[in-house]
Amino acid sequence: MSRERELRHHLARHLEDLGALRSPAWRRCFEVVPRHRLIPRFRPYVQGRLLEEIDATRPDSEAAWIEYAYRDLPAITRVDERGYFTSSSSMPSLMARMLKLLEVRDGDTVLEIGTGTGYNAALLCERLGSEQVTSIDIQADLVEEARGRLAELGYHPHLAIADGVGGYPERAPYDRIICTGMAWPIPTAWLEQVRPGGRIVSVVPEGCVALERREDETASGHYDRESYRFMPIQPWPGTDSERIATAFAQATADRESAYPLSVLDAGGSAERSFQVLVRALVSPAPKVFEHAGDRYLWSLEDDSWARFPAGSRIVQQAGPRRLWDLVESLFERWCRLGAPNRERFGLTVTPAGEHTLWLDRPDSEHRWAVPDVLLERGSDH
Ligand SMILES: C[S@@+](CC[C@H](N)C(=O)[O-])C[C@H]1O[C@@H](n2cnc3c(N)ncnc32)[C@H](O)[C@@H]1O
Repeated sequence: MSRERELRHHLARHLEDLGALRSPAWRRCFEVVPRHRLIPRFRPYVQGRLLEEIDATRPDSEAAWIEYAYRDLPAITRVDERGYFTSSSSMPSLMARMLKLLEVRDGDTVLEIGTGTGYNAALLCERLGSEQVTSIDIQADLVEEARGRLAELGYHPHLAIADGVGGYPERAPYDRIICTGMAWPIPTAWLEQVRPGGRIVSVVPEGCVALERREDETASGHYDRESYRFMPIQPWPGTDSERIATAFAQATADRESAYPLSVLDAGGSAERSFQVLVRALVSPAPKVFEHAGDRYLWSLEDDSWARFPAGSRIVQQAGPRRLWDLVESLFERWCRLGAPNRERFGLTVTPAGEHTLWLDRPDSEHRWAVPDVLLERGSDH
């Protein structure tokens, strides 16, 4: 057996051991599709550190290239000038979990949002046949590079340069939609473009949801058990020094805090299930930072913030929402509910774009409407 086939075999077994890969059909795909051929240049990302580029065209890199490609690690292929990752081949175990959640059947058509390197598209083509697969990416050069590499491997999905927020109506309806970036909110175009009974699998802040499109045109389903941190597909709110200065200049409402800032991580570092509530209901990407010895929680959506002065139990809040009041009441509710695991939470999205988080069932008495301010995505960055 060649070295690369052996490595693929080990990777597939590792994914099975993790429970990420269950079906023989998907196992075969992971055994067959050569990930290394789709990532000829990338930067390894190991334990939170971005390492030096591996370039397969350099003869001394070949071994490192092939070995890394079959580790359960992401390969970063684009980094912007601010240092944010803008494309990668994701961790194979998370990819396998998402493909499992997609529950494809032979003959299904799939729209993938986020072609990236083309590796996931290749897996879909291997599983369903190229003619069933449509994959789009917003970065034109990525699409063209993926097209060439996929063709060399014998895969010919329909590829296009498009903004996935609008889906891809040209080939709709689809049986399945999979978004390999983080979406928030879930675009309503996807609900329109998936068949009734079809599924939408997408990464959302801190998690991944598998939504079933129902006859009433809503889409509903549970979170996966794992934590996912993928790059956003919608503009993410930024800030500037003027806005920060204005927000800082506001008078604060002060009181004693019932809990330390660290309750945000409640539920354990792996599960972080409290984060499902925080990300959906307080801020999709809350900023937690230290400044002049004080600690802060900041929501870039509306510049609401809370400060925890060093060495005191006081919390000072300012801005349109009282962030810490929200966190504390959600935390108490989460505790009363018995600190539920991540996969007990679910999400319902309506054609009008309303998002509701729930526990166990969509009609549960434990439901939370996601506030509009967290569903608006401007273009301020
Ligand atoms: C994690 S990567 C995708 C990985 C890919 N599935 C693979 O197997 O290599 C996320 C991708 O989403 C793309 N993307 C970001 N925003 C997008 C948007 N609005 N529409 C479509 N693609 C988008 C990025 O260009 C990036 O390539």
